[in-house]
Amino acid sequence: MQKPIVVRFAWEIIWSIFVQISTMGFLEEIKRRRTFGIISHPDAGKTTLTEKLLLFGGAIQEAGAVKSNKIKKTATSDFMEIERQRGISVATSVLAFVYKDKKINILDTPGHKDFAEDTFRTLTAVDSVIVVIDVAKGVEEQTEKLVEVCRRRNIPMIVFINKLDREGKDAFDLLDEVEQKLGLTVTPLSLPIGMGYDFKGIYNLWERNIQLFQDEQKQTIGKKITFEQVDDPELEAAIGSARLNTLKEELELVEGVYPPFDQSAYLEGKLQPVLFGSALNNFGVEELLNCFIDIAPEPLPKTSEERLIQPEEKQFSGFVFKIHANMDPNHRDRLAFVKIVSGTFERNTPYLHVRHNKKLKFSSPNAFFAEKKEIVDVSYPGDIVGLHDTGNFKIGDTLTHQEKIQFQGIPSFSPEHFRYINNADPMKAKQLNKGIDQLMDEGVAQLFTLHLNNRKVIGTVGALQFEVIQYRLLHEYGAHCSYENLNVHKACWVRCKEENHPEFLEFKRVKQKFLANDKQGQLVFLADSAFSLQMTQQKYPAVEFFFTSEF
Ligand code: G4P
Repeated sequence: MQKPIVVRFAWEIIWSIFVQISTMGFLEEIKRRRTFGIISHPDAGKTTLTEKLLLFGGAIQEAGAVKSNKIKKTATSDFMEIERQRGISVATSVLAFVYKDKKINILDTPGHKDFAEDTFRTLTAVDSVIVVIDVAKGVEEQTEKLVEVCRRRNIPMIVFINKLDREGKDAFDLLDEVEQKLGLTVTPLSLPIGMGYDFKGIYNLWERNIQLFQDEQKQTIGKKITFEQVDDPELEAAIGSARLNTLKEELELVEGVYPPFDQSAYLEGKLQPVLFGSALNNFGVEELLNCFIDIAPEPLPKTSEERLIQPEEKQFSGFVFKIHANMDPNHRDRLAFVKIVSGTFERNTPYLHVRHNKKLKFSSPNAFFAEKKEIVDVSYPGDIVGLHDTGNFKIGDTLTHQEKIQFQGIPSFSPEHFRYINNADPMKAKQLNKGIDQLMDEGVAQLFTLHLNNRKVIGTVGALQFEVIQYRLLHEYGAHCSYENLNVHKACWVRCKEENHPEFLEFKRVKQKFLANDKQGQLVFLADSAFSLQMTQQKYPAVEFFFTSEF
């Protein structure tokens, strides 16, 4: 029997209100998320800053509570120690907390340069970054490399100059250095007053106030001396008239020389605000956090091979940017980290694994809060979920509600260490191949097959990975491998716009000894020295050489 028209009408109104409320809730959830990474050269203070952000965010109660994800310098020859620490880093891979109603997801990146590739991949999952620079050391090598990746992707960046309690470079010289070495266009949003022993405080150009630095600040938060006006007589009494005059001159200089802060330029990756502080002393950190939540982007759309995917789209999509294998022999599973791009990810719902064209259900997806991981029912764009995996995933895989899209690849970077890998136990060839295959899918290293003799070459960003691979092949797959040295300076991907261009054909003939295929079948040139690479590039201008697999 048909329902009376009034009842149907009322039901439709109630339903549309329900849909509207749930949509509003969904959009609000997206808007309140800020997903970012902190990058720096080792020792600039990334771990300390992360910890202090959690402290100000109320996610931890005392300094020193966050276990460092940092691989200590002393451990470089002891890779088991590194793996132990990498174990800790599962928990600290994503640190989430709520600050002023914003859900903040910090994606942690390993500081050790041998794991730089992990960091590069994590950068594909962030919506913005904070770059930490040591005031005394200035711009260092690892910072240059990481910022270069962010710059190419137009990722919005805030620069935090740390350790102002120590003697360091002049603030304006540092701003110049950041512009020149990192190729950024900066605008200071705070200015230090003095430095080292003479560090008096910070002028906050964002909130337009002055904070005085007190030595006993270290373990306390919230106790602050703030001035709203430069002309406050008490400020002059506190820092002295000479300092105050310098500050006034510097403020004029800032206005005259640097572009005013423009949020859209920052969001487009064209302007980078700079703040100063001391993470160890809790100084300038809260200001950084306040500025960050004011300006940093919400979850951004992401390009797939087929179309641009907007976070607000109802249907779920996401991609795997990191796989963490468990070294504990009793729990041999892996955790695949998925960044949610659109829609909601729900527990026990079948999702399409696009590469395998098969539906998978996840009964215990992990979400990350401060230092803990917990099973979660619903996650939103910007969030990261950790999925237990028994070998289904590889880095770059796309998961969707049902649409067959593929998010654009996570690039591989030109490795710098190379060795032949040999099977040391002929009875275990199958295990060895499976092991190598899975470790490469996890992104531990890259595998190349030489054209000349089909021999397999492992290429890594850091030398440590060779030990990691050997150990894991033995303990996880029961396979023995041995290595043989190979004189390669750099691997680069090559291509020519015309497959049959005479120069390309000649290049392939003459350089056959140095050619290989990567795991995806792309052509790679293994140059034996910087000089030969340069000569080859000059000799074959029609051939293009790339230092990442993304071109
Ligand atoms: P990282 O993750 O970027 O590698 O750096 P991390 O935070 O571990 O900091 C490296 C060193 O710099 C640490 O000292 C840390 O205490 C110190 N540090 C960080 N921020 C500041 C700051 O604002 N001022 C000063 N003076 N030092 C700072 P460490 O002695 O190497 O380690 P620890 O024994 O203190 O842990």
